[in-house]
Amino acid sequence: MTELDNKKENFDKILIKDFFASSVIFITGVTGFLGKTLLEKLLRSCPTIPLIYILIRAKKGVTLNERYKNLIENPVFDRVRCECPSSFKNIIPLEGDISAPQLGLSKQHCAMLIKKVNVIFHVAATVRFDEPLKIAINLNTRGTQELIRLACKMINLTSFVHVSTAYSNADKTEINEIIYKTAVKPEIVMDMCENLNDEMLEIIEQLFLKKHPNTYTLSKRMAENIIMQNEINLPIAIVRPSIICAAYQEPFPGWIDNISGITGIMLEISRGTIRSIICNDKFIVDVVPVDFVVDTLITAAWHTAMQHNKNIKVYNCVSSTINPITWKNFGELTRKYAIKLPTVYAMWYPGFTFRTNRFIHNVVSIIFHFLPAFIADLILNLRGKRSIMVKIMRRTERSANTGEFFAINEWRFQGENMRRLINAVETTDGESKNFNVDITTLNWDLYVKRCILGIRQYILNDDLDTLTKARNRMSKYVKNLN
Ligand SMILES: NC(=O)c1ccc[n+]([C@@H]2O[C@H](COP(=O)([O-])OP(=O)(O)OC[C@H]3O[C@@H](n4cnc5c(N)ncnc54)[C@H](OP(=O)(O)O)[C@@H]3O)[C@@H](O)[C@H]2O)c1
Repeated sequence: MTELDNKKENFDKILIKDFFASSVIFITGVTGFLGKTLLEKLLRSCPTIPLIYILIRAKKGVTLNERYKNLIENPVFDRVRCECPSSFKNIIPLEGDISAPQLGLSKQHCAMLIKKVNVIFHVAATVRFDEPLKIAINLNTRGTQELIRLACKMINLTSFVHVSTAYSNADKTEINEIIYKTAVKPEIVMDMCENLNDEMLEIIEQLFLKKHPNTYTLSKRMAENIIMQNEINLPIAIVRPSIICAAYQEPFPGWIDNISGITGIMLEISRGTIRSIICNDKFIVDVVPVDFVVDTLITAAWHTAMQHNKNIKVYNCVSSTINPITWKNFGELTRKYAIKLPTVYAMWYPGFTFRTNRFIHNVVSIIFHFLPAFIADLILNLRGKRSIMVKIMRRTERSANTGEFFAINEWRFQGENMRRLINAVETTDGESKNFNVDITTLNWDLYVKRCILGIRQYILNDDLDTLTKARNRMSKYVKNLN
């Protein structure tokens, strides 16, 4: 009997914590927003995990060890440092690159992973919407294929959790928890990306994209097809989160470490620099807090291992199915808390309009976004300071443009597998308190408040001590702050 057979026999009785106490883990993408939050939760909630291998690439002259050191010094691990500092010693960083053959791992490291790993979390990806097709396919599709190849050799693998996106099928409006076949096989696209020059690829990119908004969603869809198509006999779960934003509760309410997508827009709303946003405010906005996604990944790994079958399970990890909110309501809450809990870095009062008329938006944008930014830069220059406002406005506008597709379209996601997962976690002995996958427990008012506070604290480094000063300034623009 192999180690794996032994485990299978006992799965029905295994709690999530106990399952991880005997699982060796391999994670890609730990230096990113989702990956580091996942690593943090695993270390804190399952401190007896025997080993966690993490794949990190050396980058921009920074070595693996330096990157690892920087990672674990990140404030996201403050609770781990306090509550279970010894769990850090179970982490083993390995140098690799998901865009390289064999994930850029050495032969010895591959052999070690093949022998030891029980659970894989494949988080790494390029999430840039405007990535050239070649790069997106190489990282997101071929990288997944390389990892699948490695996983197929793993003798003790109990679950492989692949992080996809809810928008991997953005060309559809109704999205079930199944894998949809692409019109062109991923192998053909990967071949073309390898053999054609950039000019030719630019031309065929449009043909491949069809109704996909960008190369990111297309390459993630192709990755799902790689998983489906290889007729692999692996215990796989695909988790498809929608738009991941700040933490609701864990490791800290409002914790966030990037300003991409909606977070960047919320940041500029709170600074009062955005007055117009292209968006159909009657539509549902699909946001999920990072801690819900992390708990879904962890419990999906456990659930997959428990199921004794090799059917690929897809989980639409979204909020709209059971706890929807419209852009209008989300926007109003953002404005409310940006005014109530202002930052000292606010330039003006937070007031904006969602609109679908592009012409009016462009006019408002020139008058209220770029003109004030230009004047502010002029003043900064006169004071001998670096001009940054036009640059910030351009970055915000670019980010709003690339995300626009998701603000003027709406999707209906099915969530049967997600419901089953919620039930499975609830039937464990009190573990639903530690692993919250039930998005109905999210209170949007409280969540948006925490997002605004999180942006203030973790992005702007604006301590709550400055709140009185910021509120005094805000009271010049807004009469009643309460
Ligand atoms: N953020 C969202 O709203 C969202 C929504 C749905 C799904 N997702 C999915 O969630 C996952 C994580 O997203 P995220 O928001 O955490 O992105 P992120 O912050 O940009 O992190 C991406 C991670 O992938 C790693 N990576 C990229 N290229 C690599 C390479 N060639 N070799 C090794 N590692 C590489 C990055 O490492 P470096 O530090 O070396 O760059 C980083 O650790 C992705 O699979 C994404 O598709 C994200």
